[in-house]
Amino acid sequence: MALYIFPRKTEHDNLALDLVLPLFTMTAFLTEENLFMSAQQTVLNNSSMPSKHALPSYLHTDSLGPWGSYLQQIDRVAPHLGSLSRWLETLKRPKRILIVDVPIEMDNGTTAHFEGYRVQHNTSRGPGKGGVRYHQDVTLSEVMALSAWMSIKNAAVNVPYGGAKGGIRVDPRKLSRNELERVTRRYTSEIGIIIGPHIDIPATDVNTDEQVMAWMMDTYSMNTGQTATGVVTGKPVSLGGSLGRREATGRGIFTVGCEAAQRIGLDIASARAAVQGFGNVGGIAAQLFVEAGVKVIAVQDHTGTIYKPSGIDAHALLEHVSARGGVTGFAGAESLVNDNFWDIESDILIPAALESQINEQNASRIRTKIIIEGANGPTTPIADDILRENNILVIPDVVANAGGVTVSYFEWVQDFSSFFWTEDEINQRLERIMREAFASVWQVAQENNVSIRTAAYIIACKRILMAREMRGLYP
Ligand SMILES: NC(=O)c1ccc[n+]([C@@H]2O[C@H](COP(=O)([O-])OP(=O)(O)OC[C@H]3O[C@@H](n4cnc5c(N)ncnc54)[C@H](O)[C@@H]3O)[C@@H](O)[C@H]2O)c1
Repeated sequence: MALYIFPRKTEHDNLALDLVLPLFTMTAFLTEENLFMSAQQTVLNNSSMPSKHALPSYLHTDSLGPWGSYLQQIDRVAPHLGSLSRWLETLKRPKRILIVDVPIEMDNGTTAHFEGYRVQHNTSRGPGKGGVRYHQDVTLSEVMALSAWMSIKNAAVNVPYGGAKGGIRVDPRKLSRNELERVTRRYTSEIGIIIGPHIDIPATDVNTDEQVMAWMMDTYSMNTGQTATGVVTGKPVSLGGSLGRREATGRGIFTVGCEAAQRIGLDIASARAAVQGFGNVGGIAAQLFVEAGVKVIAVQDHTGTIYKPSGIDAHALLEHVSARGGVTGFAGAESLVNDNFWDIESDILIPAALESQINEQNASRIRTKIIIEGANGPTTPIADDILRENNILVIPDVVANAGGVTVSYFEWVQDFSSFFWTEDEINQRLERIMREAFASVWQVAQENNVSIRTAAYIIACKRILMAREMRGLYP
């Protein structure tokens, strides 16, 4: 009887069987919706166990990496999607994955090969959109998760994109400028068959900047015989980039941080903040908070951790990082063992580096009031639960750091119309979108008694799955 409740010939039949069979023996006379909810609840109650999913064969169940975190986040939203949950399997596998070999000639005449990826997670609501990461530890699971978080983020703030992400397994610090350019151009050519201004639009991410975007734009343009400014965002302003893009993610974090602080009665002007990652996102966010009176008391990056209870001059630290490559050695600040960063008491904690930094090992040590996720996926689902139990408000990545893609969207629109807006116009539009997105997720969280993350997923997944349902399954 229960086996007939998912009779559709759709791509999620596997999921239906996976979830239904273990419950079949103990569940009788369930409706479609509450059986699905029971199944999801079973997964939730075992949050320390890997959830049961119909996994694609190219992933190993025992090492799901960030993709595993994403799947658990999707499990948590399922009970709130009503009849749309029948399309949920579509979010549990990327639409398209391209793995490329990136061979380049090194300056010493040898040939080196790097592994590159471009993943398009979902394009129901528009073309793929998401950055390109250069990092020696990039994995397919990571890029899959990052692409999925882009789908959720774009839908959460309602910009008309699907989700995508790219990466190359390379440490760019070990490349000369010419080698970096060759890696970028070859990678762009390799993924050129699936990107384009109306198909999938890459952007900056960890270790990629305006110069990398300029090379990507030029390579795509040379290969297609046109100047295609709209193929990437995060370009230099002189090449069709947008004013305010470089600061957009940090500005968005600051905007939602102020909204959150107001709602929990935290006075920003006397708050203390700790920041992990002092690059584009963490550096700009820290600077804006400091300008509003916040004391940034600790900063950690890949070179080490610095601590100064009286407050770090964010502007001077940005100059130090640009000259020295990292925060270590900043005058007037104490140097800490990296792991001690998580014991520092603060009011605002901004993880703005990499995934899974807040996890089962350190979550219970964290003493702060608000965590604003600048990075993508910095908190694992288990850590999320610990933080919620400890009454720490987490503003999730898919809302908190959406300022970047929002101004990327503005850049793309400006490129198509060849008409460019002022920085004030951009910042005003950005702040409005961020405030509205935050207000919506806050309201849904209150109404459903769920975390802000699950609330954001409820809004986003409904938008994506509604588009999926209206478009229908092809053929
Ligand atoms: N750039 C954007 O517009 C944007 C938008 C949304 C989300 N993000 C996310 O924000 C995060 C940071 O991106 P970014 O653009 O600022 O990158 P970035 O390369 O400018 O800076 C990354 C920072 O993280 C630090 N870092 C790297 N490894 C670390 C480690 N093991 N421990 C501590 N710090 C470490 C680096 O030292 C650097 O300060 C990423 O998760 C990225 O996906 C970026």
